[in-house]
Amino acid sequence: MEANYKETNSISASLKSCPMNGGEGPYSYANNSSLYQKRGLDIAKTFLYEEITKKLDVKLLCSSSNSFNIADLGCSVGPNTFLTIQNIIEAIKFNFQSQNLNRNTIEFQVFFNDHTLNDFNTLFKSLPSDRNYFAAGVPGTFHGSLFPKASLHFVHSSYSIQWLSKAPDEVQDQGSLAWNKGRILQDGSEDVEKAYASQFADDMVSFLRARTMEIVPGGFMALLLPCIPHGANPSNCSSIANLELMGSCLMDLAKRGLVEEAKVDSFNLPFYFATKQEMELLIQRNGCFKIERMEQMERPMGDITRPTVEKFALLMRAGFEGIIKQHFGSHEFIEELFNHYTDKLIDHGLFLDSSYMPMLDLFVFLNRIK
Ligand SMILES: C[S@@+](CC[C@H](N)C(=O)[O-])C[C@H]1O[C@@H](n2cnc3c(N)ncnc32)[C@H](O)[C@@H]1O
Repeated sequence: MEANYKETNSISASLKSCPMNGGEGPYSYANNSSLYQKRGLDIAKTFLYEEITKKLDVKLLCSSSNSFNIADLGCSVGPNTFLTIQNIIEAIKFNFQSQNLNRNTIEFQVFFNDHTLNDFNTLFKSLPSDRNYFAAGVPGTFHGSLFPKASLHFVHSSYSIQWLSKAPDEVQDQGSLAWNKGRILQDGSEDVEKAYASQFADDMVSFLRARTMEIVPGGFMALLLPCIPHGANPSNCSSIANLELMGSCLMDLAKRGLVEEAKVDSFNLPFYFATKQEMELLIQRNGCFKIERMEQMERPMGDITRPTVEKFALLMRAGFEGIIKQHFGSHEFIEELFNHYTDKLIDHGLFLDSSYMPMLDLFVFLNRIK
């Protein structure tokens, strides 16, 4: 245990922590996570329910104790994590009942995990008062170990594992073929793609290795992440084109002298859109999880009106303001950046343009092999 704990700490030290905007203000994640993430979670709820009610062997999982331990990794702040936990607990209770077990004998312990800089104060303040579980916060990176061995029965993580532990070194290295000058993420160029894919693979190896240790044999893990179709040109995917637009706004500001161009060149998002095939391969390589279900789903944005696009721009601010401030140091241009991005997004008509592939999510349900 001591060795694992030290390992986690040394991993944390080299990481960039980039939590969402905290609090409950207009630019907070809590206030801006319903348009995109909540809609995805609502679609995934059906899959989650079906898998838990059909596959979870509560007799096996609760054979030695009445405590059922759940972790939500990358929980952030806001209603999504609480809604998801409630959905999971309801499905487990249904499972209990259907196996003729008394659902009231089980006690749920929920661990809310995120980076240490996440706004845990707001998270705890907004915990539902009528919750039927014990709650605890677990700060730290999910790329390392967070829990004692074989202590969790169910792990959930939504819209979080696309965040890398860092942007790949090569894309920031002027001497490398993968140097990503003027761009901020994977963009279709082969070397940049390779560098990002390799960083994601390394991070998933660490993530899955840690969960392998922490989840009890027979336990489950549900993952939800944005993805792109296999073989697609990233620039034709609306999710990536949207972030490219954000990158182009940074360049526009550099041309106006509001930020240094060199700073824009060295800014790369630690964010990756994997494909279903990549995820499948990484899980198979880990070898300790059986893939029970993988669903690629389109994430509808609703009616694409101007207010919807403006709301989407607020979500982008809630998610990326922190990391942009962290890199650029200065905060003065942030207002200008996000106003410019909102205008450009409206003018571009990205979400109305059918030549761009729609946003996609991947739902993955895994069983920790006994
Ligand atoms: C977009 S939010 C998702 C929040 C919530 N799960 C939901 O579905 O609405 C992504 C969260 O993942 C967290 N995160 C990213 N990388 C992480 C890491 N290595 N360890 C723990 N949390 C991480 C971020 O801090 C952020 O709060």
